[in-house]
Amino acid sequence: MQAAVIDLQAMEPQHLEGALMLSRQAKWPHRLEDWHMLLTLSRGLVLVDVGRVMATIFLTPFGEDVATINMVIVDESLRGRGIGKALMQEALALAGDRECRLVATTDGLPLYRKLGFVETGNILQQQGPLSTVPPAPADVIWAQDADRAEILALDRHALGADRCNLIDYLAVHGRIAVLRRHGELVGYGVIRDFGRGEVVGPVIAHDNEDARSLISFLFSTRQAGSFLRVDTTSDAGLADWLSTHWLVNAGGGIAMTRAGKRSALPSDPTIHRFALASQALG
Ligand SMILES: CC(C)(COP(=O)(O)OP(=O)(O)OC[C@H]1O[C@@H](n2cnc3c(N)ncnc32)[C@H](O)[C@@H]1OP(=O)(O)O)[C@@H](O)C(=O)NCCC(=O)NCCS
Repeated sequence: MQAAVIDLQAMEPQHLEGALMLSRQAKWPHRLEDWHMLLTLSRGLVLVDVGRVMATIFLTPFGEDVATINMVIVDESLRGRGIGKALMQEALALAGDRECRLVATTDGLPLYRKLGFVETGNILQQQGPLSTVPPAPADVIWAQDADRAEILALDRHALGADRCNLIDYLAVHGRIAVLRRHGELVGYGVIRDFGRGEVVGPVIAHDNEDARSLISFLFSTRQAGSFLRVDTTSDAGLADWLSTHWLVNAGGGIAMTRAGKRSALPSDPTIHRFALASQALG
């Protein structure tokens, strides 16, 4: 296939088996279900050659102001021919005026820089079998349906983005824990199936101590030996704590942003993201 024939088409459920082959080739841990989740929340594009999926990308919109770009993969045999750039240009066109965010691998970094993305921080991927099960903190409980509005508001204030589509999905396909203080919801955390086991995230809270309580609670609901993953930010100050007690570092990525004509929603500097939903979704 020549670079001149970059004919991208909308990703449909029938492309997901082929997309899964690509993510396995890139040594990413995604399962078919993880691709389905992203397709449900996103607009996807694929390059198909003789019935085989050769490249993928998703644009995941969060309201009208922000989007993430994710699952940017070109088959090894076709790299360096401009396909990655073509995928990105199409995804950016789908993003319209939105601010775009992504987590870059070292492979993707040069491409994203050339397209105007700037580095905003480091993501640390902590994972492994749970060595010991912590006790459940008394102040964290499972969320109820009635908590939805407060969870959405907390998330919006931390991310400057309306992620109601993601959080509603997580409420059905994962389990959400909440932390209240004097009746007010001050943090939430999610656990769901992903990749080799389960992922803990998003974790949104005011401070590191509350984030640890939420994570400890979620860990406490699992058995020793369960494979867990947390993608945290380097400035969250959680990676050493996770490494010491449970989950070792297995690499990470570089968080990047590209401004759009629309700005992210106003955020609250007292509320922070301690763990990502995933590297794809931020
Ligand atoms: C990242 C990836 C999608 C790039 O796809 P690609 O089709 O090879 O990229 P392109 O050929 O369109 O290259 C785009 C630009 O980036 C540059 N580039 C790409 N890879 C590069 C590298 N490793 N080092 C330096 N520059 C690089 C190219 O020179 C090109 O610049 P130009 O337009 O000025 O010539 C591909 O390497 C890949 O699938 N990697 C594995 C999965 C992955 O890590 N994806 C990124 C997830 S964030």
